Amino acid sequence: MKARDLRLEGRTAIVTGAARGIGKAIAHALARAGANVLYADMDGPATGYATRDIAGQPGCGRVLGVPCDIRDPAACERTVHEAVRLFGSLDILVNNAGKGPVHLEKSPRTKSLKFWESDADVWRDVIATNVIGTFNMSRAAAPELIRAGARGRIINVTTSLATMQRKNNSPYGVSKVAIEAETLIWAQDLEGTGVTVNTVLPGGATDTDFVSAMGKANIATTGRVLLQPDIIVAPVLWLASDHGAQVTGRRFVGKDWDDSLPLAQAAEGACEPPVIREA
Ligand SMILES: NC(=O)c1ccc[n+]([C@@H]2O[C@H](COP(=O)([O-])OP(=O)(O)OC[C@H]3O[C@@H](n4cnc5c(N)ncnc54)[C@H](O)[C@@H]3O)[C@@H](O)[C@H]2O)c1
Repeated sequence: MKARDLRLEGRTAIVTGAARGIGKAIAHALARAGANVLYADMDGPATGYATRDIAGQPGCGRVLGVPCDIRDPAACERTVHEAVRLFGSLDILVNNAGKGPVHLEKSPRTKSLKFWESDADVWRDVIATNVIGTFNMSRAAAPELIRAGARGRIINVTTSLATMQRKNNSPYGVSKVAIEAETLIWAQDLEGTGVTVNTVLPGGATDTDFVSAMGKANIATTGRVLLQPDIIVAPVLWLASDHGAQVTGRRFVGKDWDDSLPLAQAAEGACEPPVIREA
């Protein structure tokens, strides 16, 4: 069986940043697996377009786009209440929404991407979105996930080790290391509840709006090929399914998932050691 053949009927998921890119690929995959999915994104209209791609397709769960800025704790609470009101439970939270270097590059006040010349407001916004937004959403969802017990999942999207420490990349790199710590700490906080917390990442630059046009051009000159957003889908589906029930505090690379292997072996092959070493 391949990860894409796993079924998730009767489960409800929230995917943040689902209007486009990697979040949309994850939300579509969960919906195709039969889960009911809330597409949560600060770009409200675009969530509507994203769900229109897939609504009503055979085998799909129900889908709905909701405007939600994860920097706002009240908006996160409303999104969780909406999931429970519409679908009766919340089982899976995918914390995917994020901001990165492209936002510093676009700032008129940023002279360069070096930390002392960057725009402090944009720097703060990357942390507010990636680190605190992930916390806001997880905090709002936790009581419902705990109610879901052994079906409860938090899946955090981070990035490659090299990206976390690349020069000129400080707000983004810092934020993603912090999310790795959130994964490891929250996995322990949730011990005994059945809820698992894991990290997934594509495993390289991925063809979305997140990578600037200049970044894409630079990658092309090196001969490297951009990954497609759905590269990340296999570990997400596997973690969301019953196969992921005992798996917590781990990190999975989409690019390393070998679909020709049995699921357990594919998962082992895609699993990387934690970014932060065990104490
Ligand atoms: N593209 C890559 O090369 C790459 C590589 C590794 C990891 N990632 C990670 O994947 C995730 C998704 O990135 P992407 O490439 O799809 O980017 P993207 O820019 O295409 O999509 C990000 C989405 O997040 C939404 N968003 C941003 N701030 C938000 C907020 N405060 N509240 C709600 N929604 C918000 C945006 O509206 C957008 O729809 C990010 O966490 C990113 O760090 C991306």
